[in-house]
Amino acid sequence: MLQKEVIKALNDQIAKEMFASNLYLSMSSWCYTNKLEGAGKFLFEHAQDESEHAKKLMKYLNETDTEVEIQQIEKPENKFKSLLDVFEKTYEHELKVTASINALVDLTLAKKDHSTFNFLQWYVAEQHEEEALFRGIVDKIKLIGEAGDSMYFADQYLGSLNAH
Ligand code: FEO
Repeated sequence: MLQKEVIKALNDQIAKEMFASNLYLSMSSWCYTNKLEGAGKFLFEHAQDESEHAKKLMKYLNETDTEVEIQQIEKPENKFKSLLDVFEKTYEHELKVTASINALVDLTLAKKDHSTFNFLQWYVAEQHEEEALFRGIVDKIKLIGEAGDSMYFADQYLGSLNAH
């Protein structure tokens, strides 16, 4: 049986992963409406990963006979200044998710909840990969530039990336 504080923090994390999924869908849609199909596709696929992150948490709660409490998800922003703005925001968002996962891991250590601590290690590794992925994209967009043809090449590059 999980402890009350751990259950609450896991449910909060589910909401954060679902928000990330909606945020990336919103960004994906902005990209498509601005004719950036490569970036739109990448973000659409990555939104699916975020939804899977939420479901993995739900599965863990279900396996421990704990009720999942789905929360209201706040509306994500849908106006962006540029492709670089979109991806700088994805990177900033991933940093927030990492901080949240780290706080969750700290809580399980303080509560001596070894099972949840062990379960969360998958998220620790995943956040390392996601930070590297989004930081790399921001660096690449800066390198390619956003003026004229460069935007086209930046979008082509994003369309060629594996979102997972
Ligand atoms: Fe679920 Fe992108 O972290």
